[in-house]
Amino acid sequence: MSRLRITETSLRDGHQSLIATRMKTEEILPILSEMDNVGYYSMEVWGGATFDTCLRYLNEDPWERLRKIRDVVKNTKLQMLSRGQNILGYKNYPDDIVERFLKNAIYEGIDIVRVFDALNDIRNLEKSIKVINGEGAHCQCAISYTISPVHTKEYYINLVKDLENAGADSICIKDMSGILLPYEAYDLVKSIKEVTKLPLELHTHCTSGVAEMTMLKAIEAGIDIVDTAISPLSSGTSQPATESLALTLKDHARDPKLNIKSLNSIAEYFKSIMKKYEDNETFNIKVLMTEPKTLLYQIPGGMLSNLLSQMKSLNASDKFEEVLAEVPKVRKDLGYPPLVTPMSQMIGAQAVFNVISGERYKIIPTEIKNYVRGMYGKPASPISDEIKKLIIGDEEVITVRPADLLRDGYELYREEIGHLAQSEQDVLSYALFPQVAKEFLEKRHERAAIH
Ligand code: CO
Repeated sequence: MSRLRITETSLRDGHQSLIATRMKTEEILPILSEMDNVGYYSMEVWGGATFDTCLRYLNEDPWERLRKIRDVVKNTKLQMLSRGQNILGYKNYPDDIVERFLKNAIYEGIDIVRVFDALNDIRNLEKSIKVINGEGAHCQCAISYTISPVHTKEYYINLVKDLENAGADSICIKDMSGILLPYEAYDLVKSIKEVTKLPLELHTHCTSGVAEMTMLKAIEAGIDIVDTAISPLSSGTSQPATESLALTLKDHARDPKLNIKSLNSIAEYFKSIMKKYEDNETFNIKVLMTEPKTLLYQIPGGMLSNLLSQMKSLNASDKFEEVLAEVPKVRKDLGYPPLVTPMSQMIGAQAVFNVISGERYKIIPTEIKNYVRGMYGKPASPISDEIKKLIIGDEEVITVRPADLLRDGYELYREEIGHLAQSEQDVLSYALFPQVAKEFLEKRHERAAIH
């Protein structure tokens, strides 16, 4: 078996999981050349929540961050995470925005785009795959991993085959909730490797306390690449620690052959950065506590704590257990969507309403109605006519690809934002986050006027 390859996630998922994505570009830049010497397969540095956070909280241009990172990182591939037709936002964007966005990201130095859809509806990935392939970048398609009666091994195997046919260059098992158990991982990796020659990567989270075991079993089963984070940004709701895995495999057949000395200096550096966040309001000690209940209820750790605080604010803490029992029922009613953004929030809200109103589906949020209308894509299991009727009455469910209903938007956005945008990238920031990007661009404009 060949050398295991490592994707270092500290500069995206690591700080997104532990300190609400607040790391600044000036904190990232000084350590990049050292990171570039480690021997990583890739570094995940962009996408996910980093884009939104740069504009919203850090007064930073996310495109500028990517350019600065690429300037320093010469040897290691740079990777980003995209939510398919949702790109880095929370709704479907028209095809022209998806196309321009990905082209710009690849132009600025992204080598690998990991793209996923919350419902594993390939139609929501088609446009992205086409653009990434066309630009000559590496298109990694991720499976949103979840557990349900319909999410069987056969389901995942068929999904992998479909993703390969659609143009994937590699496959990632994306276990965003950290619920993939070690022996299941072994079995799943073995089975996927039997049907495809594409490189296979594992992305999981330590939330429930099994990630390191899961990773090791996946390695034994022949996984090609795994996601880890440098120790100060690892564990808790983040990924397993890079150094611990590198040392576990040292001189073994799958030794990732990372530069341990460099890893130690990088860890020292990030310890000093993390110290700054210890007393920060963005830091919540809960993210470091192992939460095995996530395995019991199959509810992601973040969703558990959100539900608890929602119930507290409604003065209904005593009904918390009832809501926990309601979540899987709502999920079943709605065709077993994976509990990943935005589905986790939507399912959670519906479960809370079902319990506190005393009648199931008496109150229904618009997002749930749109979901049942088919606007988010197709669920893994069809929604029953009874539930459909209860939620949207006699309304038709769309059968086309949801983005087919959207008209091209770039020219409209460009006109709307006007002189505040100095580049196509500014317009794209505005297209994704109109309010936040506009405020950012206004501030930038004011600063320029002063100087
Ligand atoms: Co993740």
